Amino acid sequence: MFATVDRDLEFDTQERRTMTTTGFGIDVGGSGVKGGTIDLSTGEMIGDRIKILTPQPSTPDAIAGTVAEIVEQAKWTGPVGITLPAVVTGGVARSAANIDKSWIDTDAASLFGKALGGREVTVLNDADAAGIAEDSFGAGKDTSGVVILLTFGTGIGSAVLHNGVLLPNTEFGHLEVDGKEAEHRAASSVKEKKDWSYKEWAVEVSRVLTTFENLLWPDLFIAGGGISRKHEKWIPHLTNRTKVVPATLLNTAGIAGAALASVGLTRPAPVAG
Ligand code: BGC
Repeated sequence: MFATVDRDLEFDTQERRTMTTTGFGIDVGGSGVKGGTIDLSTGEMIGDRIKILTPQPSTPDAIAGTVAEIVEQAKWTGPVGITLPAVVTGGVARSAANIDKSWIDTDAASLFGKALGGREVTVLNDADAAGIAEDSFGAGKDTSGVVILLTFGTGIGSAVLHNGVLLPNTEFGHLEVDGKEAEHRAASSVKEKKDWSYKEWAVEVSRVLTTFENLLWPDLFIAGGGISRKHEKWIPHLTNRTKVVPATLLNTAGIAGAALASVGLTRPAPVAG
């Protein structure tokens, strides 16, 4: 009897994956909310990337309205994956470091589900989504073992993957490094605020990466966030031990990861046919 149940489950999953070739993801950031349709076997965006400025204050209701507008503009009718710059467990936001504090303890999955007419939604941390996408389609696709993606922006986001399997909500940006939170040392917003050169900033990034690698011994770091576009200015100055490569999907990573998560995948969908 158990064998039959197992086979049925396997069949359902296989069937779902084969039939699901596209997904829709939305990446909620501090300045913009961005969404689009993704080819789940290649990670590429199909059609336009829709971007609406993040409402201020970025309260749950305001963001839910923006999310609904994006889905409507895209005329997407299926399930939706949505990222938040917060710890998300069981669809509930549990922290709010760089977003309106009223997100804490908001049932984001129910809120977005209602705003989207009761459809299926999956909510996950923004860096986790980017990590899933980079590991599946981008800078980590040829690396097995432990891959850590870090996003350098207003804060530092983190995603840890082991052979393609995500350990969610790692939040390394809040780990204390030499008496200070990692993101208060080495987020790209700190570089701007202190008016540091790339070389000066790389000293702090190296310090943070050294702490992370001594704890986790990753096989690869992927550096994401807007500043990874200028990687040639700072990655060569890093002094930590583990190889660091720039993210390659840039502004589609969060959307692609959210789209994969919306259909229960953390790896590319097999090519249909
Ligand atoms: C938040 C994370 C988020 C990261 C990047 C951090 O401050 O705690 O949840 O992934 O910023 O947005």
